[in-house]
Amino acid sequence: MSVHDEKILILDFGSQTTQLIARRIREQKVYSEIHPYTMSLDQLRALNPSGIVLSGGPASVYDDDAPISDPAIFELGIPILGICYGAQLMMHQLGGRVEQAKSREFGKAELSVTDTSALFAGITPAPAQHQVWMSHGDRIEEIAPGFLVTATSANSPCAALRHEEKPFVAVQFHPEVAHTLIGTDLLKNFIFSLCHCKPTWTMDSFIEATVAEIKAKVGADKVICALSGGVDSSVVAAMVHRAIGSQLTCIYVNNGLMRTGESESVLKFFREKTDLHVIDINAEAYFLEQLENIADPEEKRKRIGYGFIKIFEEEAGKLGEVKYLAQGTLYPDVIESVVFRGKAPIKSHHNVGGLPERMKLALIEPLRELFKDEVRELGLTLGLPEEAIYRQPFPGPGLGIRIMGAVTEERLTILRQADVIVLDEMKSSGWYRKVWQSFAVLLPIQTVGVMGDVRTYEHVIAIRSVDSRDAMTADWSQLPYDLLGRISTRIINEVRGVNRVVYDISSKPPSTIEWE
Ligand code: XMP
Repeated sequence: MSVHDEKILILDFGSQTTQLIARRIREQKVYSEIHPYTMSLDQLRALNPSGIVLSGGPASVYDDDAPISDPAIFELGIPILGICYGAQLMMHQLGGRVEQAKSREFGKAELSVTDTSALFAGITPAPAQHQVWMSHGDRIEEIAPGFLVTATSANSPCAALRHEEKPFVAVQFHPEVAHTLIGTDLLKNFIFSLCHCKPTWTMDSFIEATVAEIKAKVGADKVICALSGGVDSSVVAAMVHRAIGSQLTCIYVNNGLMRTGESESVLKFFREKTDLHVIDINAEAYFLEQLENIADPEEKRKRIGYGFIKIFEEEAGKLGEVKYLAQGTLYPDVIESVVFRGKAPIKSHHNVGGLPERMKLALIEPLRELFKDEVRELGLTLGLPEEAIYRQPFPGPGLGIRIMGAVTEERLTILRQADVIVLDEMKSSGWYRKVWQSFAVLLPIQTVGVMGDVRTYEHVIAIRSVDSRDAMTADWSQLPYDLLGRISTRIINEVRGVNRVVYDISSKPPSTIEWE
């Protein structure tokens, strides 16, 4: 039996917390996948899910252009859980009535459970109140035939429902968010009691299945992998290496935009701590030449991406016939999310984008079903050390997009020195692992200062530190003032050419994490 034989399918109606539903289910060691609500019945059947979750979403079921999934899913005999919009849609499609509520319900609410079977099995019944998290403007006014109310809240007389005979359950609140204190218990009841899944989706079973898959696909052919030293590419390399050993060659390109000592430490790590075969290319001069006098952020990104592809292609060509490229695509990049459909990309991200088509390489993407935290867990299970696994993300274009304006040797030196201090202070204070990313940015302005009674007119460094789960949204980190103070003092004292340090207090959106 493959580890994916049992899965819970989530139909996405555009909720911001759809991904959380998948994570919460996977935390129970049951595999879960997100698909757009438009998925056809045939596609859905082909996946053979053990259960279906209808996610929340911003629409109203009675809108003309409301997102509506195929009502025939209720005929498949598969257990279904509706959450928020999903609950309303279930009622709407099965004969109930949903209307705009007089008062909307956002945030924490108290839930009274009136029925302790199905979803609420094992949950303390009324009069106990359970804290749940609500976010809705519509509410279920009339339940569909065959259903009964299993919980209520002040503003939602039908806060939870179940069908009396069929395995259909629905909740107006969000069990996937941490503020719903009984959320995990409810999801466990759904996946284990209603869907009869077994908790078999572990990292070991994932590795076993993925190794077998890679072996079968690759046969005796050669695979290359662009290694950056970041978590994703390191885990991909370790995973593919576990499957096909010396048929894998990794290529590390130093594009001259790396942090101080980074190339040396990445290469040292892979050579000393792993059996990977790594070719290392020093292309510093080439990249700096390509970036000369280029200040436009997108143009910089394009040139760095293009340069990378060119060098990678040249090196791969020297290896003879290569058929596959192993790449660290993660699940959030794969999900065809309803929320983001149709929106233009904000920045062109290009690790190795464009390579497969140009080089006619087939892709191996062993992480495409995983979230970032799962990739870390996989890396540890594969035996990579914590220092490689808990590194903060570092963008492919490197310091090139942290120097505002043109990239020069002099400006790279300033930024590298400042960056070392930020990392050093973040690590020694214990904050490095608490935040998503923390780094220095060199601004394209000079300001007046005074050092030793002498007027200075020098560069400004901005510190950026953000908290995030997946980089889609982020908030600036509330770092302690004394830590910020130490970073500032050290940069101004130790980095020649800098006389001012500022802290970036913007969230994403509307800003982005990187400045370019
Ligand atoms: P933004 O700036 O878009 O960044 O909020 C989101 C996350 O992506 C990283 N990032 C990149 N990673 N190639 C990468 O491999 C890129 O071109 C790139 N641009 C941004 C960024 O560091 C953050 O973690």
